[in-house]
Amino acid sequence: MTKKIAVLPGDGIGPEIVAEAVKVLDALKHQGLDITLEYGLIGGAAYDDAGTPLPADTVAISKAADAILLGAVGGYKWESLDISVRPEKGLLGIRSELNLFANLRPAILYPQLADASTLKADVVAGLDLMIVRELTGGIYFGQPRGVRTLENGEKEGFNTLVYRESEVNRIGKVAFDIARKRQGRLCSVDKANVLECTELWRETMTTLSADYNDVELSHMYVDNAAMQLVRAPKQFDVMVTTNMFGDILSDCASMLTGSIGMLPSASLDENSKGMYEPIHGSAPDIAGQNIANPLATILSVAMMLRYSLNEAEMADKVEAAVSVVLDKGLRTADIHSEGMTKVGTVEMGDAVVAALDKK
Ligand code: IPM
Ligand code: MG
Repeated sequence: MTKKIAVLPGDGIGPEIVAEAVKVLDALKHQGLDITLEYGLIGGAAYDDAGTPLPADTVAISKAADAILLGAVGGYKWESLDISVRPEKGLLGIRSELNLFANLRPAILYPQLADASTLKADVVAGLDLMIVRELTGGIYFGQPRGVRTLENGEKEGFNTLVYRESEVNRIGKVAFDIARKRQGRLCSVDKANVLECTELWRETMTTLSADYNDVELSHMYVDNAAMQLVRAPKQFDVMVTTNMFGDILSDCASMLTGSIGMLPSASLDENSKGMYEPIHGSAPDIAGQNIANPLATILSVAMMLRYSLNEAEMADKVEAAVSVVLDKGLRTADIHSEGMTKVGTVEMGDAVVAALDKK
């Protein structure tokens, strides 16, 4: 049966990198992938068009789809808008509307890029880490939230960090299941020494671990985890953490691999329906210049093939094509080093498609 893909390019470099990922999907269509694409607006682009960062028809298209491909949202242009209609609200809204609670952010170092990392090559060589971030709860969504004026006239901003046992169990199971298929080591990251909410998180993970005797569970405070990620990242196999800690740690982990422009992500619901997006943002400073790295988005297509479309072989092919292109020495500016061939966004996408067609 034909699978439907919702394509939401978004803002900044979003449309450019998504166009390259769509080229890859089109090439796979020629190799037998049975899909149709439907486009929708999200973020600032949607605000400009419809006055909201998440129009109802974007939600409808996405709900009806088997998988969603997203570029990125946000930009200077919308920074002074009220927080309720900022582009980021579109992204948070769609994650929440579709119940995409499990965010998988793999950080894999392509051996060809060992020199692109700011860390010493031996610290990162062979890195293969999976961060499992809770995506629809925690302080990002907790109520009450806002800015209020106190009796003395001073303003006070407040947000709420809240997790139910059921939410921790749900993300915990995803993480344990992933760890089980990898090296069998799961590190749960919290701030249980200070925050009651994450003390409960820790207890819940420990209780859950009884169902996973084949997985070794450890716990780490988030500050230490940030340090360990740059000190000795290969000690980790799978990390599971809250929405905000996962946001921060995944950016940190991305630099281990040389560039945030390389890292894909999947956000899944209970039934493995998913939204796929690069973990980087909309980079408005380089938008429209054909210099953004499309590989994170192309690798997000590989994750889509694997997790939502049940096309593991095609996923392997896409990842292999990326590797071939890197072997050839092609590099966008963010991963460029001496002796390599600097290419633009479009040329990089074309090169991946060419490598794919050869398979
Ligand atoms: C991410 C981004 C988003 C987040 C922003 C754009 C709302 O940083 O996907 O990591 O904080 O989740
Ligand atoms: Mg982030």
